[in-house]
Amino acid sequence: MSTNSIDSLLQETRRFPPSAEFAAASVTSPAIYDDAREDRVSFWADQARELLHWHKPFTETLDWSNPPVARWFGDGELNVAYNCLDRHVIAGNGDRVAIHWEGEPGDSRSYTYSELTAEVKRAANAIAALGIGQGDRVAVYMPVIPEAVIAMLAIARLGAVHSVVFGGFSSESLRSRIDDASAKLVITADGGWRKGKVFPLKAAVDGALENGTSTVTNVLVVKRGDNDVEWTEGRDLWWHDELAKADAEHEAQGFEAENPLFVLYTSGTTGKPKGILHTSGGYLTQVASTHRNVFDLHPESDVYWCTADVGWITGHSYVVYGPLANGATQLMYEGTPDTPHQGRWWELIEKYKVSIFYTAPTAIRSFMKLGRQIPQGFDLSSIRVLGSVGEPINPEAWIWYRDVIGSGTAPIVDTWWQTETGGIMISALPGLTTLKPGSAQVPIPGVKIDILGEDGTRVDPPQGGLLVVSEPWPAMLRGIWGDPERFRETYWSRFSKDGNWKYFAGDGAHVDSDGDIVLLGRVDDVMNVSGHRLSTQEIESALVSHHMVAEAAVVGAADEATGQAVVAFVIIKSQQAADHTVDEASALLRTHVAQQIGAIARPRQVFIVSELPKTRSGKIMRRLLQDVAEGREIGDTTTLADTSVMQIISDKMK
Ligand code: PRX
Repeated sequence: MSTNSIDSLLQETRRFPPSAEFAAASVTSPAIYDDAREDRVSFWADQARELLHWHKPFTETLDWSNPPVARWFGDGELNVAYNCLDRHVIAGNGDRVAIHWEGEPGDSRSYTYSELTAEVKRAANAIAALGIGQGDRVAVYMPVIPEAVIAMLAIARLGAVHSVVFGGFSSESLRSRIDDASAKLVITADGGWRKGKVFPLKAAVDGALENGTSTVTNVLVVKRGDNDVEWTEGRDLWWHDELAKADAEHEAQGFEAENPLFVLYTSGTTGKPKGILHTSGGYLTQVASTHRNVFDLHPESDVYWCTADVGWITGHSYVVYGPLANGATQLMYEGTPDTPHQGRWWELIEKYKVSIFYTAPTAIRSFMKLGRQIPQGFDLSSIRVLGSVGEPINPEAWIWYRDVIGSGTAPIVDTWWQTETGGIMISALPGLTTLKPGSAQVPIPGVKIDILGEDGTRVDPPQGGLLVVSEPWPAMLRGIWGDPERFRETYWSRFSKDGNWKYFAGDGAHVDSDGDIVLLGRVDDVMNVSGHRLSTQEIESALVSHHMVAEAAVVGAADEATGQAVVAFVIIKSQQAADHTVDEASALLRTHVAQQIGAIARPRQVFIVSELPKTRSGKIMRRLLQDVAEGREIGDTTTLADTSVMQIISDKMK
């Protein structure tokens, strides 16, 4: 991982303890670690009781008798939406702003907890009227607008299951996700704003449903882009019409703690994305607890902003469920950071007096490149806590983030977690931990992490190894939708033995001499591009689906701005090779991948080659291609069937 090499870590020796003032006002005290260490399971039970409202209290905290599927708070009942809405109103906080929303063109809306509750009640009635009830799947394909949150909470309120698909994914990606989960309803918008233009969403939904075999019976469409949309009578309905017809009252019913809450698709090592299943009670407990403790949330005074799209797990856990369960006031912004000007984010922080800011290293690095004069043109003095997520943050970016965005004083929490873990797993607690740039540092209270060697034994610091979670945790995934075998195989088969179940995360890590954890990137065929997870095989499948392509190999190459970038090596079918210049072919294929999967998967480079490096058994040696893509000396080629191949490829590159 070039952005977080051990060398660059060693060059940064400064440490940042919490100021006395910050520590004194913090929501956490050192007892939190002691309590969790003493009894991990009852620590989580206490969190669940303190932070959530239970329609029926649980008596059993953890049932791990059927690993790898855990049951947390199994005999308890709760309503997730009630926890995020009604109870705050009942507690007298109805007038507190839940969401300040800012559209990219500059329009804005705010919802108090009372208003958001009222909207969700109507939406729940409208969705129920379309035949959605407990356990039904609803796909949500939306821009970052309040209706996305309202839709998710309304679905949760009914005990139904949402499957949010990131609005940047293609029609094809949407189709496969709708089909895999057999969704009955799709909630979308006519469009959303991005980079000064309206991007169409409804058209992609039409495309995804066009073969007529889908299980979807209705499409609910929020008016946002004011662009023309095609309409299928009987199937398509305007959100505002349905909500206007719906009853304003809706009583939230309690559902079992293990009632499924959502499925969220993420890339794995094979071509087909996996639907990660999360349930209600354990998930909500961990996201509420971590949102409070990791960001030192004071809901009565803080303004929190997480820049993630609701289409990713960060948006689920730290835009929707964590902050709203905690009664926080937050900012949501629809557009891109550089529209209409490069200071847009900082302008928003100034306008809303954001005090807690959570974003990805790739964004920080791109702002670094533009120069500190842009953020310095705004008043960022309201910021008191900064967070980072999605990929390792290199010490240079960490220091810049603290100095320029955090006025040189704000603590930074580098939070490691995954779609599968549901909530933050490794992070400093800003009121307690002495911060170390470049390291996610320590497991949160109640989570047990180990770094193992290939043989499954714990490595001695400062050696590197593979990161595992050694004990079940409340927000852990409960499975892969429709594929229990893949669930076991992917996460549990590698290190579990003798009844000791260990979750294999797919990340490399090492523990330094202070005992702090340093993440070193993925060890499998999963890439991390701008904090987004992509599978090499998924992109290869997209490439070979083009009629020109005979074979393709994809690698994630280190990239200064995006962490990793997609680099593809492609063999063109001989009969097609004469039709296009190399540049044309490469441009065509880059566009093809973006159309097939989404713009985030568009390769940085597509190299047209005549051979791919393969072992004698025919396996492509991506490692060697990665050497070429990163401009390194090519590694050991002795296991190649034809050792001259790499020479030819690398000569061509030059
Ligand atoms: O490789 C790790 C990296 O992102 C992966 C999870 O991706 P995803 O499921 O899309 O979730 C991203 C947001 C939680 C991990 O396997 N990753 C995430 N956070 C960090 C990180 N790598 C290093 N440091 C982090 N703080």
